[in-house]
Amino acid sequence: MAEAKVNGSLAVPNVQALAETCNGPDEQIPQRYVRTEASSGEVISNCHDNVAAPIIDLNKLLAAQSSEEECVKLRSACQNLGLFQVCNARFLAFRYSIKHLWNKNLQLINHGVPDEVIGNFKRDIVEFFSQPLDAKKEYSQLPNNLEGYGQVFVVSEDQKLDWGDMMYLTVHPSDLRDLRFWPTYPASFRQSIDAYSSETKGLARCILEFMVKAIGAEPELLLGIFEEQARGMRMNYYPPCKQADKVLGLSPHTDATGLTLLLQVNDVQGLQIKKDGKWFSVNALNDALIVNIGDTLEVLSNGKFRSVEHRAVIHPNKERISVALFHYPCENLVLSPLPEFVEDGKVHYRSMRYQDFLKQMLTAQLDGKNRLEKLKLEQ
Ligand code: OGA
Ligand code: NI
Repeated sequence: MAEAKVNGSLAVPNVQALAETCNGPDEQIPQRYVRTEASSGEVISNCHDNVAAPIIDLNKLLAAQSSEEECVKLRSACQNLGLFQVCNARFLAFRYSIKHLWNKNLQLINHGVPDEVIGNFKRDIVEFFSQPLDAKKEYSQLPNNLEGYGQVFVVSEDQKLDWGDMMYLTVHPSDLRDLRFWPTYPASFRQSIDAYSSETKGLARCILEFMVKAIGAEPELLLGIFEEQARGMRMNYYPPCKQADKVLGLSPHTDATGLTLLLQVNDVQGLQIKKDGKWFSVNALNDALIVNIGDTLEVLSNGKFRSVEHRAVIHPNKERISVALFHYPCENLVLSPLPEFVEDGKVHYRSMRYQDFLKQMLTAQLDGKNRLEKLKLEQ
């Protein structure tokens, strides 16, 4: 979202405030939030074996005796689902082993995300959203700007609306940060956003490198496209809704960018992914980071990586908070399959300037996987 020069979204009501008035016994939610598709179709909630969100153990990826097996799991997650989760409890050990490994290649990077960093960040987000509306409105989006507190993807007065508010910030590079939107309450918030953003930086790079290796390619070219590029953070606040089965927190979509790291801030589940026409509930482990593959990676990899269609649903009486950290490719990228991923001359996607692709997304309502489908070439 950071670079595309587009108009902001149309103004919409604050859903947190709305939820307070329409969760009473006799109140109904406004029609603009009622979604017939929310409760239609089967949702598969497989809580036991995490079918919808395989757990990738980074330690296993690194250990010689288990690496191959874990790579098979990672490859399958990238090719079939477009989503997996990595558990934070394992990061510390991982941090040291990967540093050691990469030192040999003369690369010095900082990987793990310490519990403390995640804990502070979560605490501050909860505190921020729990403030009265007026305090949060100080960070409201401004005309023609996508950053700040509000909503995106609202382009017409009669489009259905999502049951959620969000706060979007460009977090990297630091000279692109617009501090007008960076909350000063709680006092440690700016610091905790910064810490989370920098601590996850190396991790995202490392995951991407493993992903490319898992599908048998050389990572340099792909990594170079994301190296030191912009990162945007979307903090989602989904209020409870007593008619939860009639609303959607976030409409079906794919992320336009490269990798997304998704953190569930409180222990309320709500993410669902679409596979073979059915919705599956993702059962995120506590403190795990969910890794979503976005459209850019699907196109660059000529379809070897799958961009995952996902949505967020609402809980009847609990709020849910999540944070998506988007990794953008370089600004002037022409989105097109990299030659390395093209087998037998079969190019599966047409080329498009990344900025145009992004602009298309930001000037339309969310629309499942359709935007990406339009780039697909008939074979
Ligand atoms: C997003 C997103 C899902 C969630 O912010 O792009 O997909 O569970 N969020 O909040
Ligand atoms: Ni998303």
